[in-house]
Amino acid sequence: MVDLLGIGLGAALTLFAVALHYSKGTGWTPTQDISQEILEQRAATVAETDFPEPMNRSIGGGAVAAGAVAGGEGGELEEGGAEEEAAGGSPADIPEDEIEYYEVEFVKEGETIELANNQTILEQGEEHGWDLPYACRQGQCVSCAGRITDGPAEDYVVHDNQQMLDEGELDDGYTLTCVAYPRASFSIETGEAP
Ligand code: FES
Repeated sequence: MVDLLGIGLGAALTLFAVALHYSKGTGWTPTQDISQEILEQRAATVAETDFPEPMNRSIGGGAVAAGAVAGGEGGELEEGGAEEEAAGGSPADIPEDEIEYYEVEFVKEGETIELANNQTILEQGEEHGWDLPYACRQGQCVSCAGRITDGPAEDYVVHDNQQMLDEGELDDGYTLTCVAYPRASFSIETGEAP
């Protein structure tokens, strides 16, 4: 009697398990991935800028951002380069076969060395082994200032975008060595600011 009950229960449980296995359930399907759509909507709310966007604001991540920079912005850079070329260009772009050298006396260092006209006074002084003062290296402070003792600075150097010295200071011989390219021989006192 007990055996029959056990067998019956076992059979019923087995049938129940088989029935569960073949039942179709509620038919769950994953929701549609709308992350790209949301990214595009967010991007549309961000104002256009003239500079490359940080990658986390770009649609589709870094690869697209890099492509955008290489494509769109690259064109603008080339235009900028062409404008600069038309305006005479930077002395740093002087071709190798047109480089000229000048004798420059570094008064405080007690030495006269030859400086090329396609590199700044600061760079060439450093290459010679001197620990010359500087901070921004972009003509936007006066940390690297020096004084040309022979006369007005712009008779002896070309400044590529110096933003700190006024006419009077330039006439007094002051120069920002990080953006100053020699165009004649002269003597300079480094570490001299107006
Ligand atoms: S280091 Fe700042 S202007 Fe030269």
